[in-house]
Amino acid sequence: MAAKPPRVAERDRQVAIERAKLEWEGTADALAGLVCLLGRHGEIMRANRVVEDWALGSVSGVLGKQAHTVLHPGCRNTRCSLAGFLKQALSEIRAGTRKQFELQEVIGARFLHLTVRPMRQRPDTEAEQGDPRAVLVVTDLSALYRAQDALERLNSSLEERVRARTQALADVNRDLRNEIIRREQAEVALRVSRNELVALSEQLIGAQEGERKRIALELHDSVGQSLSAVKYTLERGMELLRQPRLGDPAAVFQLAVRRIQESAESIRAISMNLRPKILDDLGAASALQWFCRDFAETYPSLTVTTELGVQDSEVPDRLATVVYRSVQELLNNVAKHAAAKYVLVKLSIEDNTLLLAVRDNGVGHDHATADSRRHGSGLRNLRERAQMTGGQFSIVRPPGRGTLAQLSWRLDSADRPAPRSTARAAR
Ligand SMILES: Nc1ncnc2c1ncn2[C@@H]1O[C@H](COP(=O)(O)OP(=O)(O)OP(=O)(O)O)[C@@H](O)[C@H]1O
Ligand SMILES: [Mg+2]
Ligand SMILES: [Zn+2]
Repeated sequence: MAAKPPRVAERDRQVAIERAKLEWEGTADALAGLVCLLGRHGEIMRANRVVEDWALGSVSGVLGKQAHTVLHPGCRNTRCSLAGFLKQALSEIRAGTRKQFELQEVIGARFLHLTVRPMRQRPDTEAEQGDPRAVLVVTDLSALYRAQDALERLNSSLEERVRARTQALADVNRDLRNEIIRREQAEVALRVSRNELVALSEQLIGAQEGERKRIALELHDSVGQSLSAVKYTLERGMELLRQPRLGDPAAVFQLAVRRIQESAESIRAISMNLRPKILDDLGAASALQWFCRDFAETYPSLTVTTELGVQDSEVPDRLATVVYRSVQELLNNVAKHAAAKYVLVKLSIEDNTLLLAVRDNGVGHDHATADSRRHGSGLRNLRERAQMTGGQFSIVRPPGRGTLAQLSWRLDSADRPAPRSTARAAR
């Protein structure tokens, strides 16, 4: 086969070159980034369509221009980083010292990523004067950055929201803890006040109980005793009616009437004040003196002797009632049970102790029947009263016959003789 004539060969070559150019353009234009072939001094030898998309110039218009001039139109910066980068890249590519160069640059509104790589040479050939030396690829990362930016914003807003939410949770948590503490405190307070209530109602019941006891004592001591006396007096009156020579019954009945009046008065006194009025009127020792005289008048068969060796002011106010009531009870017991001829009432202070003794020469306590002991409440009351006021009560069998009842109260500094009460002074 004969060789093709030179013309035909030349035409074939031109066609092949044309095809290669078209292929390059087709491929390069399909890329999203800017692709430029650069000559020995950085001049653009080819550019794809992106140069037009980015409004840097027309594909044919940029040919021969410096890549820096196209990318940085009108740049006068002598220390321009892009210009420096391109210059450095080309010089190193010419020298063959490095193969890849990268730079991130903001140009206009775009974040750009630039790479410069050497053109591949045909094997065994030197680059010729007019051959492209390097490929510049510029990728627009704006969308990526925008996305990254949005992501960061999203992230930080998410963080912000997480922070806010955490804070809100912490607040709720703290409120809850405070609420728990508040409730615990309320519970404690409730328990305390419930305990106080229990204690209070116990006190109330105790006070009620004490009050009942006192009223019972008063009724027994004043009304009970008076009625006993009235009964005895009326019996005596009737006796005198039967035997007028023994005395005048009228006087005895008058006495009974007086006793009944007194009873009525003491009932009123009880309802007004559980303390016998006579104590305030006279003072304790004088009241005792009066009572014993009155008692002797009621029971003339009994000789009543008194040894009251204390002043009114020496009997502490707190003990006046118990002393008076005790004498009442003990004398009435003598009248009721002892069948005695003689009784001694003695009040004294010895060794800072107030002593009350009632001694009779009757049948003696031992003669009391079991039955009467069971029914009587006088001595039990008396003992309780003594204990309630810090005193002691005892019944002893004195030498000879009869009964000796003794009461004692230790006096303290608060019991020092005080001036007479205002009630007395007012009289
Ligand atoms: N001086 C006394 N001599 C002899 N026996 C006494 C004497 N005092 C009390 N007793 C006996 O002790 C008992 C108890 O006395 P207490 O004063 O407690 O009851 P009461 O006098 O019988 O009844 P109340 O005092 O309740 O009216 C009496 O029933 C009596 O038998
Ligand atoms: Mg009695
Ligand atoms: Zn520049």
